[in-house]
Amino acid sequence: MAGEPVSLPAWQTLTDEQSRRWTEVLDHVADALPSGAVSVVIDGGAAQAAVVADRLADTLHASGRPCARLTEPTPAMADDWRAGRAPDTVAVADGSHWRGRPPTVEWDVVVWLRTPPVGRAATGGRGPGCDIVIDLHDPTWPVIRQLTDRLVPHDRWYLSESRAFFAIRAATWDTKFGDDMPAYAAAVTEANLTTGGVVVDIGCGTGRALPALRDAVGSHGVVVGLDLTPQMLTAARTHAQRAAADLLLGDARNLPLADASVDAVFAAGLLTHLPDPEAGLGELARITRPGGRLVLFHPSGRAALAARHGRPLRPDEPLAQAPLRHSTARTGWQLTGYDDPPHRFFATATRRNT
Ligand SMILES: C[S@@+](CC[C@H](N)C(=O)[O-])C[C@H]1O[C@@H](n2cnc3c(N)ncnc32)[C@H](O)[C@@H]1O
Repeated sequence: MAGEPVSLPAWQTLTDEQSRRWTEVLDHVADALPSGAVSVVIDGGAAQAAVVADRLADTLHASGRPCARLTEPTPAMADDWRAGRAPDTVAVADGSHWRGRPPTVEWDVVVWLRTPPVGRAATGGRGPGCDIVIDLHDPTWPVIRQLTDRLVPHDRWYLSESRAFFAIRAATWDTKFGDDMPAYAAAVTEANLTTGGVVVDIGCGTGRALPALRDAVGSHGVVVGLDLTPQMLTAARTHAQRAAADLLLGDARNLPLADASVDAVFAAGLLTHLPDPEAGLGELARITRPGGRLVLFHPSGRAALAARHGRPLRPDEPLAQAPLRHSTARTGWQLTGYDDPPHRFFATATRRNT
């Protein structure tokens, strides 16, 4: 929703947990910067970019890395920033006026702040050509949503950032999305899971699918909900209790489950949150017995979801039909169903024998 620009709260007004969040994000960004002379511009979020640039400069100074904070209102000094500086100085600028005038051929690192839209100027999406995307919808709780592998392997930032993103959403998830539960039940019914089987909901969140999964496998089946975010599992207790389901803390990329140990995997809204969706499909295949089922679901179709997030729908997205057909085939699945109208995304696959 459009509104007034949100300015960042002063550091002193943050709670300890919020300051730790800011520190963690700034440390990830500082760690991602290449060695040597580096230029960084913070773009997007017009009202916040200067403060984030200041905080990054403070972080770099505190870590002992020389830093030149380019603060001129117009980038007239851009060519001079190296003069008299240590060779490994990081130049930090902010704003679109600086972005358009890089101090060398191009900026070494472009950071995009994703903020709520202000008037007609939305700063959603990823920002074109950006290396790092920081979500600032809650100005007390920044979260890195994208950091290019060119700078640093995702293993260095993905866990803390993914957990941080979902941790603050867990308590209100069901209030916000509770109306979708009938859509989950319909999807599970349509998936036609084997009665008495073992089904795991990977990335179960607050466990909205667990009651429907219990109905599908019956009282002799086994239902497990697994999630990366402890706060989500806390919120999942009510649904889990109702569904007599076990809850597991774990990472979909490295599941604490034996090879071929489950009959079906249900994953709603998970795959696009994994840094490497195809590797994720491979891990889901590993735990599924030959002939077992995969159900990928979301209570909005891809186009509707992209529109809601203010981003274009790309044909090479992991859940687009052709990429999903190929990635499932490469990871031991055969895609058996694909439906992507506005009101849901629903794809099924069967675990191949080989
Ligand atoms: C969009 S939410 C969907 C939650 C739930 N499936 C639903 O439909 O309501 C994605 C969930 O995946 C979890 N998640 C993200 N990355 C994960 C990973 N690597 N392993 C397990 N869970 C993950 C998040 O914590 C979050 O609960």
